[in-house]
Amino acid sequence: MQVALVGLGVMGKNLALNMIEKGITLVAYDKNPHAGEELLSCAKSQGMADRLHIVSDLGDMVRRLEAPRSILLLVPAGELVDAVCNELVEAGVQCNDMIVDCGNSNYKDGINRKLKYQNKFEFATMGISGGAEGARHGPAMMASGSEGGWERIEPWFEKAAASYNGESCFARVGQSASGHFVKMVHNGIEYALMQLIAEVYQLLRIGTGRSPKEVADIFNEWSEGQLNSYLLSISSHILSLENNKQEPLVDLIDNKVGAKGTGLWTAQNALELGIAVPSLVAAVQARHLTNVCDTTAAQEMTYATKATSKVDIELDELKDAFTLASLLAYRQGLALIKGASRTHQWKVDLSKTLQTWRAGCIIRADYLDSVAQGVEFIDTLEKESNALRKVAGQAVMSGLAFPVLASTQTYLATLTTPSNGHLVQAQRDYFGEHGIKTHSGEICHLTDLVEIDAKVR
Ligand code: 6PG
Repeated sequence: MQVALVGLGVMGKNLALNMIEKGITLVAYDKNPHAGEELLSCAKSQGMADRLHIVSDLGDMVRRLEAPRSILLLVPAGELVDAVCNELVEAGVQCNDMIVDCGNSNYKDGINRKLKYQNKFEFATMGISGGAEGARHGPAMMASGSEGGWERIEPWFEKAAASYNGESCFARVGQSASGHFVKMVHNGIEYALMQLIAEVYQLLRIGTGRSPKEVADIFNEWSEGQLNSYLLSISSHILSLENNKQEPLVDLIDNKVGAKGTGLWTAQNALELGIAVPSLVAAVQARHLTNVCDTTAAQEMTYATKATSKVDIELDELKDAFTLASLLAYRQGLALIKGASRTHQWKVDLSKTLQTWRAGCIIRADYLDSVAQGVEFIDTLEKESNALRKVAGQAVMSGLAFPVLASTQTYLATLTTPSNGHLVQAQRDYFGEHGIKTHSGEICHLTDLVEIDAKVR
């Protein structure tokens, strides 16, 4: 089997080595010739160079491949994807050749590109997660679409992807560009889980006065049980690191956090679709908030005015609260995927989606089994619900900021306690005559309500 790969950055290079190792003959190209040379020398040192051909331009790539061709793009999302597609058309790709965009592209671009290139070649999309290590040894692959070309390369992706209990973490999750939507939501959940771990760390560090090393030990202990996850274990490792003077490395890092955009897209899409994902939105805004002020100055001010108070938190309760908050981040993400799938008629299979997240990706976690059991799990988690309520309350009382913890408690409370939407409905009708809906489903105005109620009774 022969596949081509364009873009030999960190992800491209590692995926290339992974695929060659699985037995694929790879034709690879990068506009920077050094990237090709580096890949070749890595492949040589691992005894796999005979299945690798580095080409110096896309024309050569197209000529070398037997038709129908399969070409993977691992180039930065945006205009570059179109630039490469157009160059490949000029170089001679044909209708039944397939080009798979494997970057962190916006799914809306994927939909447009499918239309734009429909008579030129088969355009398909696949989100890949797992960073360099995942790409090299087995990433999660969230593909989509029903292009004929998939049949040729799917068995190879199934081998190159991570596997969980013998099942591959490659799947075509749904129609059209839904793979990129699923990868986008994966990143939205990733933002929420990262921020949640950071908040639990802060609660333990500032709220209870523990050192980063002590927090690392707690995270490590949690990781040994059901709570084991990639993000928790790397956080434990990071917090255990020290410099030569035995000072925590984490204290040497500035507080401002950047972002490439997928978390923001998740929040934007959720708002547009009217699907509530407060924990995911809060995580994006938490990053924005780190950039609005000089955080060092803000921190000094906080300490100077003694605005924070210590908290008295039971570790078991904190663990329960963290467990539930983590599960709720996935629940919100899955609800968003389900809603988008219904709107766009993508037929996304949520169990296949979860299958791709079981190993290889950044949000992999042992407790995904509970998420796979369905959306009604909250009812069975009374102890955890009470813990989340208590911990969120104590966190707020400390005076520190816990955007994801607080938003997740709000989300849970909204699902499990009486709503106050009736008064907002009445307010809208009061000043704007927007109409109100009664319990029996009737649409009327506030002024008619007394009469209607009398009739119903
Ligand atoms: C993955 C990661 C990967 C990347 C994010 C980072 O699944 O392998 O999510 O895609 O690390 O794009 O996103 P930010 O730079 O926005 O944090």
